[in-house]
Amino acid sequence: MGAPMSADAPSTDFTRLAQYPGSGCEKYDRRAEIFGRDDVIPLWVADMDFPAPDFVTDALAERLADGAFGYAKPSEGHLEAITGWLAGQHDWQVGAETIVPVPGVVPAMAMAIRAFTSPGARVIIQPPVYFPFFQVVRDQGRERVENPLVEQVSPDGIRGYGMDFEALEAQAREAEMLLLCNPHNPGGRAWNEAELGEVAAICSRHDVMVISDEIHMDLTYPGIRHTPFARVADSAGCRWFTVTAPGKTFNTAGIGGGYAVIPDAEIRKRFDRERRGMHLGEGSVFGLTALKAAYTHGAKWPAELMAHVASNRDRVIEAVADLPIEPMWPEATYLLWLDCRGMGLSDAATDPGDTALQRFFIDEAGLGLSQGIIFGEPGRGYMRINLAAPTRIIDRAMAQLRAAWGKRVAGRGPA
Ligand SMILES: Cc1ncc(COP(=O)(O)O)c(C=O)c1O
Repeated sequence: MGAPMSADAPSTDFTRLAQYPGSGCEKYDRRAEIFGRDDVIPLWVADMDFPAPDFVTDALAERLADGAFGYAKPSEGHLEAITGWLAGQHDWQVGAETIVPVPGVVPAMAMAIRAFTSPGARVIIQPPVYFPFFQVVRDQGRERVENPLVEQVSPDGIRGYGMDFEALEAQAREAEMLLLCNPHNPGGRAWNEAELGEVAAICSRHDVMVISDEIHMDLTYPGIRHTPFARVADSAGCRWFTVTAPGKTFNTAGIGGGYAVIPDAEIRKRFDRERRGMHLGEGSVFGLTALKAAYTHGAKWPAELMAHVASNRDRVIEAVADLPIEPMWPEATYLLWLDCRGMGLSDAATDPGDTALQRFFIDEAGLGLSQGIIFGEPGRGYMRINLAAPTRIIDRAMAQLRAAWGKRVAGRGPA
């Protein structure tokens, strides 16, 4: 049990909705709370609508059948499954002793801030960015410093974010830590070696510790490779560690469980002291089971998944081609960042749920997307759509969007 039945069989049914109203999932069951109505097509929170791959569900079913849910200890080969995954998928060689289990990526960032920065210290983040980056700095009583990403258009017309290294250099002088999002959510950039090298050099010059969140590391589009921050960090002499988890890749976010990769023994010891001090244990029975199964049997899954996501991406890009919406070209993540500023709808209310842009998507298009402004000020006028859904859902969402925009434009009458 645990391995896929045949090498060619898909590992999941990309057409099946595993999450639906009443199934106890955030995506459907929090719609009324988030969007004010429960009939929008939910394409917001970053998990997948279809089931986790069969080699994960089989392993969990086997564990369930055992009926053994006492305190868990990682089984033999657990750490080797992690180091094998990092080596096999990312050409990243680490020793088993560098792996520290954590309950999740955001909790690990909280621990890192507490362990390595002083109260009131400045911590740099790069908005627009996954909104808990803001909260986790605030909640530890540290001061947030924003180093906004800059929009760039390549010579062949591809839109994507870059970093403002000049500002980063100045900000790093006064800061103690940088929370890096690599690959980037919501911008979809898979930062390259030159960019990460620059970050490492700046942070090394000013003794800023880098915590690299690599939870989206496996989710690169065909032809793109993830660059672990580790590849550039040590040669730059930077203090750093990486934190990641299998939850985004294998759709097991609700089970929880992640790990930090901390090659430096002193840093590891200090982080582990903080972690142990919180008495969070070594992980749940199901988290440990899911991780080991995923990393042991999942080598082909990221490509399988991202082929489906890429096809959905292309459908969305085509559907909005003649609307005043500009998607940012994603290199990674199943999240697509849509520049909606051309729609001419205000996104200026202080209550994020109540802007004209958000109301258009909810009330006229019937869509529950993530509003860009929650990722920070540079996200104003943007919306984020989750592509990890059955294709018919994406197509229906695009048909609703196009019809709603058509009605709007018709309602405006001749210019
Ligand atoms: C960049 C990023 N980091 C962390 C998380 C959440 O990690 P965890 O649930 O392990 O705290 C997400 C979830 O969307 C994310 O996009």
